[in-house]
Amino acid sequence: MSNLKDAVFSGSVSQGNPHQDGIAYDTYEANFNVIEQDGNHSLILTPYRAEAKKLIKHLFAEKDQRILDLGSGTGISTLELLSQNPEVYALGVEVSEGMLQIARYKFHQVNGDELLKQVDDSKLLRYWQDFRTESERYKDQVEFILGDFQEIDDIEPESIDGAIGNQFMHWTDLSKSFKQLYRFLKRDRHVVWNSASHFYDDSKFPSSEYGFRYNDFLRFILDEVGKRVRVRDYKTLSIPEHNLDSIKTITSEQGFETEQVATYLLPVDLQVFIKNHVPAFVRNLIIPKMSKNEIKDITQEAIANAINNPKALEDTQHKYEIIPIFKSTKR
Ligand SMILES: C[S@@+](CC[C@H](N)C(=O)[O-])C[C@H]1O[C@@H](n2cnc3c(N)ncnc32)[C@H](O)[C@@H]1O
Repeated sequence: MSNLKDAVFSGSVSQGNPHQDGIAYDTYEANFNVIEQDGNHSLILTPYRAEAKKLIKHLFAEKDQRILDLGSGTGISTLELLSQNPEVYALGVEVSEGMLQIARYKFHQVNGDELLKQVDDSKLLRYWQDFRTESERYKDQVEFILGDFQEIDDIEPESIDGAIGNQFMHWTDLSKSFKQLYRFLKRDRHVVWNSASHFYDDSKFPSSEYGFRYNDFLRFILDEVGKRVRVRDYKTLSIPEHNLDSIKTITSEQGFETEQVATYLLPVDLQVFIKNHVPAFVRNLIIPKMSKNEIKDITQEAIANAINNPKALEDTQHKYEIIPIFKSTKR
């Protein structure tokens, strides 16, 4: 269930594991900005980098320590880890070869010739160029391993000083991931990780009250799609299966003490929602097998009809991705 939810809600591009396609993932990253004020400085960040920044502030790391980056993807959080902790060593674990290859390119570990042949998007190329300029100084402090973190065996037991997991845990079975973390982490060390509102029901900001996945606009779109083809019920997929108690229980069974150290609400812009999330929702919720082009046509028509219906734009409450941050310490 959780993986179908993740595939539906991730807003990524291909079916199955949406993260096989690192180019699509980084295209999203390269195309949207998040502007933040940090002390006296205003920052223009890419979306996952902004999330990583908030998350990694809760990690305590010291010089020469080895820090795991769980589900390191295309290396976005790995770079933020090093930018906040320039003297640590990062070990990324990633199950998708497509994502990992891009991370290796972005950290100067491969020349990227094959990758660059596939790309003709100036924003993406510019984003990679800037990333590589920033990452160059850390390139010898980073290693990426290809594998499923729930099963990998090639990390020395109790050799790791800390871990981060930016938008990773909900892709896995929590018990299995924490069992692995227990093996690899030293005692009293912690992992900081976050999640999303289709996975976690925050007590102050319940998903059903604030979460963008409950926005009526989506219902109008799926109603439109439903006039043409059969679709799954998206609202039941939006119901999160965890709260703080269930997370504390599962992680404590694996030897960890977990606290929720922060929560933030990320406003979801309607344009981003329409461009990025809606097509992924529709694609994954359509029941019959259809070609990409057929799905694209149906989606565009549904979006156009929904936008022309003033009622579809009335819901101004469900506008947020609610992101909890947890710190789990090995006892
Ligand atoms: C939402 S992305 C986040 C990527 C990265 N942490 C970032 O900040 O951009 C989740 C990543 O976790 C990876 N992943 C999912 N399940 C995994 C597993 N069992 N082991 C390792 N990586 C996994 C996915 O392939 C994907 O790259």
